[in-house]
Amino acid sequence: MTEVDLLIVHAEEIATPAGRGPRRGPEQDELLVVRDGALAVRGGRIEAVGPTAELAARYRAPTVHDARGCFLVPGFVDAHTHPAFVATREREYDLRLRGVGYEEITRRGGGIFRSVDDLRAADDATLAACLRGHLRGFLAAGATTVECKSGYGLTWRDERRSLELLAREAAALPLRVVPTFLGAHQMPREFKERRADYVRELATQMLPEVKRLGLARYCDVFCDVGAFTVEEARAVLAAARDLGLGLRIHAEELGPSGGARLAAELRADSADHLIHVDDATIDAMGAAGVAPVLLPGTVFALAKSPPPARRMIERGLPVALATDFNPGTSYLQSPLLLIALACGVLRLTVAQALTGATANAAASLRLQDECGALLPGLSADAVLIRGSSHLLLGYRMSEGPIERVLARGQLLDPRDFSPFASTKGP
Ligand code: NIG
Ligand code: FE
Repeated sequence: MTEVDLLIVHAEEIATPAGRGPRRGPEQDELLVVRDGALAVRGGRIEAVGPTAELAARYRAPTVHDARGCFLVPGFVDAHTHPAFVATREREYDLRLRGVGYEEITRRGGGIFRSVDDLRAADDATLAACLRGHLRGFLAAGATTVECKSGYGLTWRDERRSLELLAREAAALPLRVVPTFLGAHQMPREFKERRADYVRELATQMLPEVKRLGLARYCDVFCDVGAFTVEEARAVLAAARDLGLGLRIHAEELGPSGGARLAAELRADSADHLIHVDDATIDAMGAAGVAPVLLPGTVFALAKSPPPARRMIERGLPVALATDFNPGTSYLQSPLLLIALACGVLRLTVAQALTGATANAAASLRLQDECGALLPGLSADAVLIRGSSHLLLGYRMSEGPIERVLARGQLLDPRDFSPFASTKGP
């Protein structure tokens, strides 16, 4: 008998991508499913996965958790979120339902500008409390790895404290946070008449400081109608690449921005949204190794037509999914609802969606050797969900049924982490 730290036994099913990401083409639809499954955990890593009868004979542990009534999937990886905000914007959503467009709201000074005003006015304690609430909300919802962007500060002071407080709050939790600098989220009002000056400040002042202080692993740009042009985005991302930061880009969300082509040109790790992308650009992304990160919560809340997710899979791209959690276009934190939307809105199969929210999301962050599947050697990150089949994932439109979250080997009760706890309304 080998001694391990934790044994989870008698899961109705263990369902995981059959290999590490990126999972392309037919692989995206391929799961390994073990009935009456067990998981052995040692030193925060997965020691073994298999039938309970087998693992119970090989391992013993001081803690044995009986998972009867639940199925087990990998801890979800959320590859695109904006948690550094201090107030929600539900009034804008109601305005949009009354026919006012997202871009029009931005032109009136709302949208991202509104969240920037709120964040700049908030003190550190308020911003930290909001970040804490959001990070705990991710964990409670089953996300164990989350890419988190700054981008509601747009001054060095406010971008810096967004990333510093994010790192501080993340360090207090067993959540894996990948920080991204999004100083190019919107052209700040004060630079409206001198856009080139802000782009220069991002490239020559902020980014070198981000790198020097180790505040982010990635740089992102919102390259779209009403945000940054392709030329501006290229200047910012090229500077980030020269500093050794990874690249991600918001592309083709509001219109055909050209951002996805730019992602291919710069060999970015991901291009995200991709609502207006064409087949030639999909192929260019594939050839350049750019992962498509799709955000069906945003498609749903902005009432857009869906990006061509199935065509991307057919053309061999490892499609990843993310919530885009933010106060404007997608107030969504739950990977379970994300998967339901990916099935219902993008028409992915449950297996394709599960792979997109785990192995492929991890690969888009270059974390495929760390997380994203229930395979020996990877981080012990898993979610125990009430029910007997992983096929409930796309079908059941509820974020409720999470029994336990295993994060870096720690078994957590999600009821101890109340989501959205500290975000104030308008
Ligand atoms: O991904 N597109 C840019 N950023 C967010 C929206 C931000 C906001 O409205 O606050 C997005 O949709
Ligand atoms: Fe976004």
